[in-house]
Formats: sequence, C-alpha cells, structure tokens
Amino acid sequence: MVQLRLVAAAVAAGLLPTVTSAIGLHEAALAAGLEYFGSATDNGELSDSAYLTQLDNTADFGQITPGNSQKWDSTEPSQGSFSFTNGDVIADLADSNGQYLRCHTLVWHNQLPSWVTSGSWTNATLTAALRNHITNVVTHYKGRCIHWDVVNEALNEDGTYRTNIFYTTIGESYIPIAFAAAAAADPDVKLYYNDYNLEYGGSKAAGAQRIVQLVQNAGVKIDGVGLQAHFEVGTVPSRSSLVSVLNGFIALGVEVAYTEADVRIQLPTSATTLAQQAVDFGNLVGSCVDTAPDCVGFTIWDWTDKYSWVPSTFSGYGAALPWDENYVKKPAYNGLLAGLGAATSSSASATATSTTLTTTTTTSSSATSTSTGTAAHWGQCGGNGWTGPTACASPWTCTVINAWYSQCL
Ligand SMILES: *[C@@H]1O[C@H](CO)[C@@H](O)[C@H](O)[C@H]1NC(C)=O
Repeated sequence: MVQLRLVAAAVAAGLLPTVTSAIGLHEAALAAGLEYFGSATDNGELSDSAYLTQLDNTADFGQITPGNSQKWDSTEPSQGSFSFTNGDVIADLADSNGQYLRCHTLVWHNQLPSWVTSGSWTNATLTAALRNHITNVVTHYKGRCIHWDVVNEALNEDGTYRTNIFYTTIGESYIPIAFAAAAAADPDVKLYYNDYNLEYGGSKAAGAQRIVQLVQNAGVKIDGVGLQAHFEVGTVPSRSSLVSVLNGFIALGVEVAYTEADVRIQLPTSATTLAQQAVDFGNLVGSCVDTAPDCVGFTIWDWTDKYSWVPSTFSGYGAALPWDENYVKKPAYNGLLAGLGAATSSSASATATSTTLTTTTTTSSSATSTSTGTAAHWGQCGGNGWTGPTACASPWTCTVINAWYSQCL
C-alpha cells in the first residue's frame, strides 16, 4: 500500500505518465486520505461467481454493506425471535476478504415486520421493543462493524420529522433512545444518522443537523452522518457546493460518509449521459476527498447495474452504477478514479475520460442532456453554471437553495 500511495502521489504531482498500471477505487481512496471505498451487496447475488469475484476485489472495495439482511424484518421477524443467518453471511464475507463492514440499519420506517407496524403500542412498550431490538442486533455484531446506521430516513423533504410508528408513539426522543441503546451495546462502533437528499443543503440537511444536535444535547453519542447520494444524472451539485454541505455537518463535530451512491440515467443511455454520470460520480467522491479525513469513505449501492435497485424503483431508469450489467466498467469508473485524484484505468471505456479529468474540479453542470423541458420534483432547476431545465413540473416551484443550486420543491 505504501508503494501504491507513492505511485498515486507521483501521478498527482505529474511525475509519472498516467499510463501506469491503474490502481483500484479502494486503493485510490486510501491514497486520497479516505478510510475506504466500498459497495453494498445482498445475499441473493453471492451465488453469482463472477459477481462475487469482483466484490472480493479489495483493490476496488475495502468495505461492504449488507443491502437488506440486517434490517428489522430480517433480524427480528417476530417479536423477540432473532435471525442473523443472512447478515452473518455478509459479515463473514467481509471478514474473509479483510474488508470493513458498514452495518445497516437499526431503525427505519420501511421493511418493518407487521408485528411492529400493526402492534398496539404505548410509549413504554414500543420504547422497550425498540431498545430490545437494537440491543440484540448490535450485541450480535459487536466488534464486527465500523459503523451502524442507527436511524435511517427520519426526515421529510422539508426537514420535519417523518411520520412513522416510532415518531407517533414515542416522539422525537425515539432518536436519542435508539443511539443510546446502540452505544450501550457496542461502545466502539461509530453511530450514524443516514438519509437521502441531504446533499443539496437546504431544509432537509438542516433537519439532519437538528437530529445531530438533538442526540448530542441528550448527552448521547453520535459519530457521523451518512449521505446516501441517490441521484439522477445531471442533478449532482457541484463539488464545491457538496463540500459546503459536508462541512455543515463536520462543524457539529461529526464525521460524514457517502453511504449508498448511485446516479440513475433515463434509459436508453447515451454517450452524453454516461459522460455526465462520470462527472457526477467524480464530483461526489471528490467532495469527500476535499473534506477528508472528516469524510471517511464512499459506498456505492452495489457495483453492477445487474443488481441495482434502480430499475425496479424508478420506472424507465437504470444504468446507475460504475459497471454495466455485463460487469464492464463504464465511464463512471474513471470518473470516480479521477475524483479520487488517481490515474484512470485504460480498461474502462475511454469515452468520458477527458471530460472527467477537465471538469471534476469545476462544476458538474457543464454537460447535460436535459437542457429542455421541466425538472421533476426534487430536481435541479438552476444555479451557477446550470444549463438544464429552469422550469418545474406542476405543482412544484423552483426554489433557490444556494448560488449553485435551485431545486423543484
Ligand atoms: C415517551 O417517553 C419518553 C421517555 O421515555 C418521553 O421523553 C417522551 O416525551 C414520551 N413521548 C410521548 C409522546 O409522550
């Protein structure tokens, strides 16, 4: 690894041509001062041996995250009855590969078993069930996780609390209660609040800052904020704008990480959208580099389009990850390497390489295929350098978030 760092430093200093044997994403992340580059995975995919071979490639992935098998419906399907079989498969894989494990997630409004969502709870009984769940799951994985996503997606887009069984029954104190239970069960694991659409700043990021302070003011440990980074191509803020959002959290005394990154494209893809995707990924990971070591790592929400959650969730969209369905690297792979300051890989498609290298330190919006039409709810509709749509689909209004970003709200 020392030699790799020297090579990366020499490349960055212009001392070597950028045709040296390419380093991988995790190696480049380490050279850039991050703790890891990683990927989510899931149990069903592990029987695909070609998939598994690349997931095991620690040049690219120094960390893995179980996509589903540590969630409440998997780990406590009926009250007081715990099942860790699937989660353990992923944890054991991380161990045997020497990869970090990001553990995900303890308290979320989705993928809850019906005994939780349909139970008749009082404040006291649900608090006890919440504590029991967290205590058992965190104790089971004690010493094996670098992070736990303790509370996931507790906010509405306007920064108010999402209505879920925990909030309506316990109130906002369910959040510090959850963090306290996790801290008691494993004092060494870093405890995260994790959410999406925090990357734009604005009301939702302010809500997440409020959650950090709520937990801190309760005298309870919170170590980090996870920014999921689920994006549509062309809507990723500029690198400098992302940096200021990350710094807003870091100023509260917590670390940050990108935890579920993907950049979906309306199908079919084109050379233009694939090039923009490379720029978008480069700006995302670049903002983490710019705030390292407080930004500790970057996780993509699986690595191949073959197993992405996007097509089944966003109709007409896909191609959201750095490798295609046939496990061929897309321009996004080089976009990530460029954002990490590393030499790009000659085995990836060269289409976007020059675009990526020349634009990652400026803005993400120099090339976009969406220069006409209207932006969807939550989409970008303005900001310095923005050449995309400036009108919003009804009934949304284009709202200035900062000089670099206006959003349809
Ligand atoms: C539930 O109980 C907790 C104390 O455990 C308290 O802080 C909170 O305000 C209560 N919530 C409601 C809705 O009464």
